[in-house]
Amino acid sequence: MCTIFFNRRFGATDKPEYSQLPMRILDGKKIILCVSGSIAAYKAAFLTRLLVKKGAAVQVLMTPHATRFVSPLTFSTLSTRPVYMDVVGEDEWNNHVALGLWADAMVIAPATASTLAKLAQGLSDNLVVATYLSARCPVFIAPAMDVDMWHHPATRENIERLLRYGNHLIPVGNGPLASGLSGEGRLAEPEEIAAQLEHFFSRQGKLAGQRWLITAGPTYEPMDPVRFIGNRSSGKMGMAIAEAAAAEGANVVLVLGPSALSSTHPNIQIIRVETAVEMHRAAMEQFDQAQVTVLTAAVADYRPEHIASQKIKKTSDTRILGLVPNPDIAADLGKRKAAGQLVIGFALETDNEYTNALDKLQRKNFDLIVLNSLRDPGAGFSVDTNKVTIFFANNKRWDLELKTKTDLAADLLEAIEEYRTFADTTNLD
Ligand code: PMT
Repeated sequence: MCTIFFNRRFGATDKPEYSQLPMRILDGKKIILCVSGSIAAYKAAFLTRLLVKKGAAVQVLMTPHATRFVSPLTFSTLSTRPVYMDVVGEDEWNNHVALGLWADAMVIAPATASTLAKLAQGLSDNLVVATYLSARCPVFIAPAMDVDMWHHPATRENIERLLRYGNHLIPVGNGPLASGLSGEGRLAEPEEIAAQLEHFFSRQGKLAGQRWLITAGPTYEPMDPVRFIGNRSSGKMGMAIAEAAAAEGANVVLVLGPSALSSTHPNIQIIRVETAVEMHRAAMEQFDQAQVTVLTAAVADYRPEHIASQKIKKTSDTRILGLVPNPDIAADLGKRKAAGQLVIGFALETDNEYTNALDKLQRKNFDLIVLNSLRDPGAGFSVDTNKVTIFFANNKRWDLELKTKTDLAADLLEAIEEYRTFADTTNLD
């Protein structure tokens, strides 16, 4: 992998950015979002936006008190659907039974102490509770209230009863509350609520029960406390694959070099590393448990022989930096690969693309290799798109057009599935 010298201040920021890559698991899901009367209702507006961005059809229901905190117009604009508030509207009957049957999931966020009590008792005096009683889909309850209300035995009993009825509880947060007090009772953040839904639906995905290992991002090879050898990888390609596999139910271990990316998906465990040696150690530790390993990382092939303990001072002399080879993670995993394990490599090339990629496919014992060339505009490092050719070890080849890394990740999942079927039917190791 080509290398570039950086000062640390030009590297990845310490502050993680939650992945902006859209996950597909909520795409097309029909979700009823019920909003009850709490100051936390404003967070439900963000939740609506987030769910819509993830492709869900969101139908908002509000209790009368909720409309005093946030206008129904906000929700109807964000969801692009009318908001329902009453069982009997001005000139129509809002069919709570039909709504309950329509949804794939119902989310009550925020659920106030009063709404929890009504749900637990089946006290159907508003559209939210009437729809809850009619719903056949899974129901997720995200409470929000002040700390003492949350700890009151009446609330505890209502929660226990709602859990006994098979509802899913989204835990409250702990921190400053609108009353000025601090403690448990804050509504979970919209990202956490969306992640719980994704987790729920992904357990039904086609990769449920599988474990995936993915390497992503660059490695930084320090020269001194200030400088390192690195490259331009952002981690986006690997993160897109991690999100796609997790969305289909896989448990993903993502070994990530220095990158500003992060993920809230509960199926993704991120192990952050800096150097190739650290990435090698983490990957070797995780490999035996993984059915599928995807190596997207741009690993530095060499590291400085010595790391100066102090900043190397500028002199007028020519400096020669001694380099030693790094471990080849892919080659070591390829040697250790057991029957039933698949290893997928990536190759970023600038010339002789096909020859180089096919050579790596064989030499590193990959099952598939994904070739991207820096000669293709919009492909490779840092950008949100990529253009690749996938070579299969059984001599097949897929040439894909330029597409987003998210869409490419979905195609790669298909390619892996296709190769697995071939390998299973021909009993390949
Ligand atoms: O992170 P992004 O900004 O989204 O960019 C994505 C990407 C361009 C980094 C990605 O699409 C990509 O091409 N990754 C592979 C980079 C590369 O050229 O690797 P390589 O040809 O040096 O190595 C071939 C394979 O061996 C790769 O799977 C690599 O992860 C692996 N390898 C290489 C060296 C090494 N020491 N250990 C390894 O595991």
